[in-house]
Amino acid sequence: MMTYREFLENNHKLASDLKKEKEALKLLFVELKHLSNVSFYDELNKEVSIDEQKKIQELFNKYLYDNIPVQYILGYTYFYGLKFKVTKDVLIPRFDTEVLVENVLKRSFNGAFVVDIGTGSGCIAIALKKNNSSLNIDAIDISKEALNVAIENAKLNNVNIDFIQNDLLFGIEKKYDIIVSNPPYIAKNDEVDNLVYKNEPHLALFSEDDGMYFYDKILSQSLNNLKKGGIIFFEIGYNQKEKIEKIVKKYYPLANVKVIKDYNNNDRLAIIDNCN
Ligand SMILES: C[S@@+](CC[C@H](N)C(=O)[O-])C[C@H]1O[C@@H](n2cnc3c(N)ncnc32)[C@H](O)[C@@H]1O
Repeated sequence: MMTYREFLENNHKLASDLKKEKEALKLLFVELKHLSNVSFYDELNKEVSIDEQKKIQELFNKYLYDNIPVQYILGYTYFYGLKFKVTKDVLIPRFDTEVLVENVLKRSFNGAFVVDIGTGSGCIAIALKKNNSSLNIDAIDISKEALNVAIENAKLNNVNIDFIQNDLLFGIEKKYDIIVSNPPYIAKNDEVDNLVYKNEPHLALFSEDDGMYFYDKILSQSLNNLKKGGIIFFEIGYNQKEKIEKIVKKYYPLANVKVIKDYNNNDRLAIIDNCN
């Protein structure tokens, strides 16, 4: 018999040989066993049965050998303190995207009309509504499969959001106070981590025009869909500050663009104010 500690240590060695993160194994273990940080350390000294070793090892191997992200193995993740279902049809919500949510909440007034373009799992729209129930939120995605996951997540988190299958804002006449979007923004020839490339939907990752297609289109559509005095919030790539400033100038010569860094100190959020 071996203890959970020995079992995990063996797998940590494997992870390090395979250049994988041992934190991912810990997360998988803690979630599978429903442990808190305190009970995790108690659990380590207990013995693990052969049957359970087999069961856990099978899931560890999906991460270690099949290169599947832990969130897809578990089928869920956390974002802005809330739980979200994730499947291969949606991008895994990223910690850095919480910066966007935090800033939209700071700037949104009671009863504001908000649209989240490219909602994916629904994480942005749902976190906004959960923290300001007065907001009227529409959430758009071109992918029916992604929207099905987002609808489930809205139910799971008990919020009411209008989900719309559409190509950006094409054909939509409604005007919004706030437009938010974390669109696909990786240039087609950029290098992407293999774990991401192999698993996450390419529809959620890649964009034409050197990663800038969606920003340009949404800004152009905002001329019709953004109310006077409205604000646009874009998540951007770490190297897209100058490029986004240039596109904003094309549509709104007098607008302010404020770029905010994420928790890793990379440029991540563009707030576009005084649009018209
Ligand atoms: C980077 S993911 C963001 C997902 C989620 N908002 C998040 O922050 O985790 C971009 C999303 O845009 C969607 N998308 C791609 N092209 C689109 C289009 N033309 N119109 C609407 N949504 C689109 C993708 O399906 C994907 O869900």
